[in-house]
Amino acid sequence: MSADGFSSGPPPGAAADWTIDQAWSSYTEGEHKVWDVLYERQTALLTGRASDEFLKGLDALDLHRGGIPDFARINEELQRLTGWTVVAVPGLVPDEVFFEHLANRRFPAGQFIRPPEQLDYLQEPDIFHDVFGHVPMLTDPVFADYMQAYGRGGERAMQLGRLHNLARLYWYTVEFGLMETKAGLRIYGAGIVSSRAESVFALDDPSPNRLGFNLERLMRTPYRIDDFQQVYFVIPSLQVLLDATLQDFAPIYERLEKAQDVPIDAILPSDRVFTRGSQAYAKSALERVKA
Ligand code: PHE
Ligand code: FE
Repeated sequence: MSADGFSSGPPPGAAADWTIDQAWSSYTEGEHKVWDVLYERQTALLTGRASDEFLKGLDALDLHRGGIPDFARINEELQRLTGWTVVAVPGLVPDEVFFEHLANRRFPAGQFIRPPEQLDYLQEPDIFHDVFGHVPMLTDPVFADYMQAYGRGGERAMQLGRLHNLARLYWYTVEFGLMETKAGLRIYGAGIVSSRAESVFALDDPSPNRLGFNLERLMRTPYRIDDFQQVYFVIPSLQVLLDATLQDFAPIYERLEKAQDVPIDAILPSDRVFTRGSQAYAKSALERVKA
């Protein structure tokens, strides 16, 4: 996770790279319980919805020994599988700090867990979103390479002034990505798998568009941070996603400079359409705001 608008350095107690001690032994019983409730709830929903890569990663990490997992333990397995580690941070970190961690195969995860009265919605990513949502995919060798490449690409996009375009790639893949499989569409995005409501909405609701992944098209599409997505992009496989990002983005960024954004709910003639969404949910949400 990352965010813009940081003017000063790391908060007191954090290292220069913004990492902190997870301080695993100081989580309370109540905090461990929140993890257990969320874990049970999501895993019950995700069979038949999450991608095999995600479910396999979840199994490999054994994130259900009771309570919030200890990063030291997760890291032994993760390190062995793909060379990634999870590091604790206080919350959102500046973009350049985030990219630097990814480029070195370190995933920064929020140390705190949401309070029990906010099980379904919170603004900042907590340890459940970051660890349950993101870390299982990092056990997959292809996805592991993709995330590292993204970190390097982030540093470059910042220099070229195209971070807003690259951020859309992260959003529509790492956070809200869907995958086409023989058994049907499956979720691999962390923002979906860690959300009770969106893990149903993203696959089953007739409202959002579900469109085939196309790198340049996707980078022209804005996204919502405040509600369910209006469009999801479907990759054929993680390998296709990785391969599409191995090319040099500089010429793409140059074209994007002149190209217009695609409206969030638009379907283009060149799109491969999995679902032509009714957009009913987005429209009714708008009505609620106006009322
Ligand atoms: N290939 C991209 C570039 O040239 C880097 C990148 C890789 C970006 C993977 C995102 C994901 O900038
Ligand atoms: Fe996230």
